[in-house]
Amino acid sequence: MSKSLQAIRGMNDILPQQTPVWRYLETTFARLLEAYGYSEIRLPILEFTDLFARGIGEGTDVVDKEMYTFLDRNEESLTLRPEGTAGCVRAVLEHGMTGGGQVQKLWYSGPMFRYEKPQKGRYRQFHQIGVEVFNQPGPDIDAELIVLTARLWKQLGFANAVTLQLNSLGSSEARARYRDALVAYLQQHFEQLDEDSQRRLTTNPLRILDSKNAQTQALLIDAPTLHEYLDDESREHFEGLKARLDAAGIAYEINPKLVRGLDYYGRTVFEWVTDKLGAQGTVCAGGRYDGLVTQFGGKPTAGVGFAMGIERLVLLIETLGLVPSELNPPAHAYICAFGEAAELAALALAERLRDELPGLRLLVNAGGGSFKSQFKKADKSGARYALILGEDELAERMVGCKPLRDDTEQQSIAWDALAERLAACLA
Ligand code: HAM
Repeated sequence: MSKSLQAIRGMNDILPQQTPVWRYLETTFARLLEAYGYSEIRLPILEFTDLFARGIGEGTDVVDKEMYTFLDRNEESLTLRPEGTAGCVRAVLEHGMTGGGQVQKLWYSGPMFRYEKPQKGRYRQFHQIGVEVFNQPGPDIDAELIVLTARLWKQLGFANAVTLQLNSLGSSEARARYRDALVAYLQQHFEQLDEDSQRRLTTNPLRILDSKNAQTQALLIDAPTLHEYLDDESREHFEGLKARLDAAGIAYEINPKLVRGLDYYGRTVFEWVTDKLGAQGTVCAGGRYDGLVTQFGGKPTAGVGFAMGIERLVLLIETLGLVPSELNPPAHAYICAFGEAAELAALALAERLRDELPGLRLLVNAGGGSFKSQFKKADKSGARYALILGEDELAERMVGCKPLRDDTEQQSIAWDALAERLAACLA
């Protein structure tokens, strides 16, 4: 195939055999979120570049290296959203949804775009389901978000394949004090740092904490820790969250090096991680971002949320063999019709059956063909019955009903009795 007809690297087609799993995940999430009182918001895929630069932060990998940014015909710099939080904050502010302390519990889903190095579980167009809550400053809502995701894992059947990592980043002042201490410490060991960490020492020093480089990690053993610098309120918030998770029976690991790659977080951060997917093991991640709304010019408004990567969840349930078998059920019946008059009658009969049996999965042969070829297609479709309509059947207002999945005899059934007979296979 010529190059121009290939999909862009890291941007995948989701083919018909995969979409049932996607839909299964999406509907399971949607049902669960609605049951917890979250409402869906749909947001644009394109935003002004400035939104992400200000929200996610200059100096982050996402903003510095990974955004799909271009000038439109009006010379405005636009960016394909790399994540959903910044756009969601923009939307609630723009529509006055958080004024007067109004609580918003929102969820969204859709494609996100990051110019990353594609590999298993890491793509350039990927899909998230995200949740954002506004005007709820307490640890109770942090706990609810985590409890809700834990329930989702249970429903999907892999609760024992994921672990919860938890940390508190403290207030922005505490973080600033910690950043200074960390930089002072690492500067003494500058030469031993890996190249990326050397660069981050000036751009985003906290990210050095989750460097994959062994020598850098060894240096960090004696580095000051974030928890030594936590302010009292953040400490209390964190204790409140832990107490709630304990009460709900949710196990967690405190990971003092969990800092997240987006700048807007403060206090709670968390990730759900699996060891079943190789390097890209984070299936869901989020945290608190109480400072983001003011950063966008709004009144102080607490914010907290998370997003999960649908591709990674699909991979996980496939890897663990947890895809329910009934996701793509075959048709109940397939109508074969021979000759034009029978074809016309078949169309009318099919519509009548669909009116009478709304759950009926009914295929109607298209493109004519001999008895043998239509019968073959009926069989291949997986349908349970072939409904045969030829000249004789037409004259008698009957169909031949041939079971395709067992050896029982073909029967003649009157059109008027057909819905009732098929209803039995819908039960
Ligand atoms: P994030 O950690 O950048 O956070 O992404 C959340 C999740 O999206 C990841 O844990 C992963 O499952 C998935 N993901 C991220 N990048 C890729 C990729 N290139 N390919 C496949 N999956 C990916 C956020 O986006 C925040 N907006 C989450 C949030 C919401 N925090 C507060 N509210």
